[in-house]
Amino acid sequence: MNRTVYVNGEYLPETEAKVSIFDRGFLMADAVYEVTSVLGGKLIDFDGHIVRLQRSLDELEINNPYTREEWLNIHRELVQSNDLVDGGIYLQISRGAPNDRDFVWPDPEMTAPTVVLFTQSKPGLANSPSAQAGIKVISIEDIRWGRRDIKTVQLLYPSMGKMMAQKAGADDAWMVQDGHVTEGTSNNAYIVKDGSIITRALSNNILHGITRAAVLRFADEAQMKIEERNFTIEEAQQADEAFITSASAFVTPVVELDGQKISSGAPGSIVPRLREIYLEESMKTAI
Ligand code: PDD
Repeated sequence: MNRTVYVNGEYLPETEAKVSIFDRGFLMADAVYEVTSVLGGKLIDFDGHIVRLQRSLDELEINNPYTREEWLNIHRELVQSNDLVDGGIYLQISRGAPNDRDFVWPDPEMTAPTVVLFTQSKPGLANSPSAQAGIKVISIEDIRWGRRDIKTVQLLYPSMGKMMAQKAGADDAWMVQDGHVTEGTSNNAYIVKDGSIITRALSNNILHGITRAAVLRFADEAQMKIEERNFTIEEAQQADEAFITSASAFVTPVVELDGQKISSGAPGSIVPRLREIYLEESMKTAI
């Protein structure tokens, strides 16, 4: 594969793209990111991702080097130059590379943020096997830091969680804090009971998913009942259906939790319908 990637103002072959060893993203996970899905060559929920990017940057006092239009142009240029049909665009901004390692933040006037974007091709993304069959999830303790609402590249624990899931013969993990599910390692978590969609309320304990916001909006418009509240693993195991949402998984059914089947152990009726609505509606505003 030789993608064209974006690094600090330049479009380059991926093999020629370079970032300093002093980059604070590399040394300290001092960086934020976004993943925007691409379907049929179009960006899904682009504005939602750019708004959240700004929020993450503001929380960490990193300057946003570009306007929305500039971000859009870079995204579109990458889609085009890589002939991207289905997949996603990964965007990362770090606090930049001062000329040494130091815990203290560098002066933003002297050190510009490092900006990196690249494409990831996933042909047939909207019809993935996991969307048809559903995924198996295990529960693990949520031991991440307290600002999970900021989309930082501090992803070691989520990555370990995916490995724990893999070792247990599952696909992913839901994290649990004080007896309640926070979210999945890279997605938001939901259950469905008696027609009601139940998901944890927004706080600093979870990432404010862009897909979450869209799915809850569409569900509300379709007159579905929504409860934003905590739930336990036991409640989830007794639920009628369960699912996750993210920019890359859209709406994906969860059919097993800690080895216990949810209902029949196959996707129900509400979650596949929600996925259909989500894909249909978000394609309407794709740009
Ligand atoms: N993950 N929660 C966590 C911890 C996440 O990492 C993500 C996204 C989400 C869902 O957010 P959104 O709907 O905005 O994608 C929730 C991305 C896709 C990733 O890390 O690849």
